[in-house]
Amino acid sequence: MTDRPQTQDAANSMWGGRFAAGPDAIMEAINASIGFDRRLYAQDIRGSRAHAAMLAAQGIISDSDAKAIGEGLLTVLSEIEAGDFPFRTALEDIHMNVEARLKEIIGEPAGRLHTGRSRNDQVATDFRLWVRDQCDAAIEGLQALIRAALSQAEAGADWVMPGFTHLQTAQPVTWGHHMMAYVEMFGRDLSRFRDARARMNESPLGAAALAGTGYPIDRFATAKALDFDRPMANSLDAVSDRDFALEFLSAASICAVHLSRLAEELVIWSSAQFRFVSMSDKWSTGSSIMPQKRNPDAAELIRAKIGRILGATVALFTVMKGLPLAYSKDMQEDKEQVFDAADSLMLALAAMAGMLSDLTANREKMEAAASAGFSTATDLADWLVREAGLPFRDAHHVTGTLVALAEGRGVDLPDLTLAEMQSVHAAITEDVFGVLGVHNSVASRQSYGGTAPDQVRAQINRWKEKLA
Ligand code: ARG
Repeated sequence: MTDRPQTQDAANSMWGGRFAAGPDAIMEAINASIGFDRRLYAQDIRGSRAHAAMLAAQGIISDSDAKAIGEGLLTVLSEIEAGDFPFRTALEDIHMNVEARLKEIIGEPAGRLHTGRSRNDQVATDFRLWVRDQCDAAIEGLQALIRAALSQAEAGADWVMPGFTHLQTAQPVTWGHHMMAYVEMFGRDLSRFRDARARMNESPLGAAALAGTGYPIDRFATAKALDFDRPMANSLDAVSDRDFALEFLSAASICAVHLSRLAEELVIWSSAQFRFVSMSDKWSTGSSIMPQKRNPDAAELIRAKIGRILGATVALFTVMKGLPLAYSKDMQEDKEQVFDAADSLMLALAAMAGMLSDLTANREKMEAAASAGFSTATDLADWLVREAGLPFRDAHHVTGTLVALAEGRGVDLPDLTLAEMQSVHAAITEDVFGVLGVHNSVASRQSYGGTAPDQVRAQINRWKEKLA
């Protein structure tokens, strides 16, 4: 005999027919999921109502039993929503908690609800419905974020800022162009969640434990009632598949990478050394010791959320790999990961949309920075190719010499005199100054998708139409 405490309950009333004793307390602790899967209550009740209605329509249970079940489940729903539902760990999970309470409320007909179904297809259905809702929430959150980035882009379609590679000033770009790069990234995220949603929109309900059922159920009817496109075509797959959760987590991970990269830029740009942007008070915090500080905490936390989201993704992939068909209890470990990742993602999306909407881009600071660091050197080289007929490699070399000259004098390229320029290459004329300013530089990059304000505005309009 073990001296560990036993649970007070006798054998589980839901499945304990062949059991003489209740579980060890530690068994109960490791087995129970009610602590977290209670979040599936609305989906569980919705699925059960659809199932009961179908059972009656097929003549498998009586109309009066189905009516009692349907109404009783609504009572359970309102109890849970009112916060006075007696959740019991001994009943393991949300499915058995709901059913046991239904029995207390309506009596015997409750026992007919589980006809032609198993907790395996039940949990697969509930969780799919929940993740499907999260895809919709992510899509909505991304649309709001894209709108915020679009308004920034529109306001500053021709504001010049340094474009970076290796975080070294490379060529001037516009603020609008930079914002639109994120619109493209978040746009791909949006389509990933849409794709995942479309693929997951099949109903596992009626797959029963794993093999289907001998009752004349109508899986198409329950699929329709739950707004699924169709029932899943293989009952083994239906109860063992968690691709929908993996796809959601994968899309969430990529989206979190994008959020993290933008957050990082906001942290850099809001620093005293850059001051490209000012975060509104609503999205900044102070320091308890250094009165001068304005910290970009929200951006930093968004930057960090990828840790949790990717962690959840790796965790669920690890749980699923190597599981034999069909259902294994390992799969109960899917929910907390997805719950946490979804919560983190929705919060990060909302915070980024808010932060971006309330952000002020500092046009003068960005333009001054864009003009520094010889950012129009490529324009000078291109001018030498175009106007003086030099091969690009020679033009590159001449420009390099001019940059070294300017650097030695402590000035920028447009500050060199014509005579100084001609001392490096005789073909240079006064016209060269026309391409050296940052505004000339960005205006000239008219290639499709380039940084010229016209191009940026064309992309903004395309996105606005797309979102309308
Ligand atoms: N709580 C379980 C889960 O989340 C429900 C399915 C239980 N099925 C079973 N055969 N024990 O996976």
